[in-house]
Amino acid sequence: MAPPDGSPAVERFDRIWRDYVSQETLEERIAQHREGRARFLKILAGYARRAAPRCVVEVGCGSAIDLCLLEREMSGAPAVGIDLSPEGLKVARSFSERLQMPLKLCQGDAHAIPLRSGSAGLVFSQGVLEHFSDPRPVLAEQARILAPGGVLVVSVPQAFTGYTVSKHRAIRAGTWPWGWEGQFSSRSLRKLGESLGLRIEQVFGYQYWLSWGEPAWVLRDLVGKVERRLPAAASRWVKPVSNAYDRLWNWMEESYGHVFLLNVAAVFRVPGPAR
Ligand SMILES: C[S@@+](CC[C@H](N)C(=O)[O-])C[C@H]1O[C@@H](n2cnc3c(N)ncnc32)[C@H](O)[C@@H]1O
Repeated sequence: MAPPDGSPAVERFDRIWRDYVSQETLEERIAQHREGRARFLKILAGYARRAAPRCVVEVGCGSAIDLCLLEREMSGAPAVGIDLSPEGLKVARSFSERLQMPLKLCQGDAHAIPLRSGSAGLVFSQGVLEHFSDPRPVLAEQARILAPGGVLVVSVPQAFTGYTVSKHRAIRAGTWPWGWEGQFSSRSLRKLGESLGLRIEQVFGYQYWLSWGEPAWVLRDLVGKVERRLPAAASRWVKPVSNAYDRLWNWMEESYGHVFLLNVAAVFRVPGPAR
């Protein structure tokens, strides 16, 4: 991965994590994860419950908020967060203390995860694979540490969004803080896992980029925007329309979110008896 400003990856990520908590409070950050990533966390929790006694590992954990939020679901499985950035791990430690979720945190490279082969029951990464021009070895390494029948959940930015367009504009201008970054279609993500011998279990999408630059979000919030601007008396008449509109979008998000939402996640299983 070649950062545009020439700085090594660890310095660039350290810089981002150093600013992270000063921009918003821990509570605001936690609320953002709970709300924006609700579908991701719900599906992940279902797998986390079955991981014990093997560990649950988040690769490229950064703040490790997702891992902390999952910890309650793990029925005693150890929770391990791995990241290249020491500053990221400091942030993770503060969230782990605030949420009183004990995590094992260790500095490590996603190309050589410091864990034994076959030692994990669930491995996941969110917003990590897109940072590598060749993501295959990084995914293979995540699969290596899983026990037979273990589950790998990989979440990355979905390709067909206004966010992708805006991100590449910023990358070209050299103003994207994360450096170079790619994106995946649900098909390319699925094929990548299958090329490593992993079995696909499900693919789903979640979250919107809450911006006027995101057509899916502008449409999703259209009726809500009108409703919020109407006087209370009129909003009574709009309510049934707005409820029907919400139900339609919820169904589209469940069924086709992997082709229009901000993130796409794939759940793979390592061949072997299901856990
Ligand atoms: C966009 S952040 C995602 C953080 C977290 N997963 C989340 O969803 O909030 C990407 C993370 O990957 C980490 N990272 C980047 N390259 C890495 C590598 N080679 N090995 C381990 N972690 C890496 C960065 O330090 C950063 O914390």
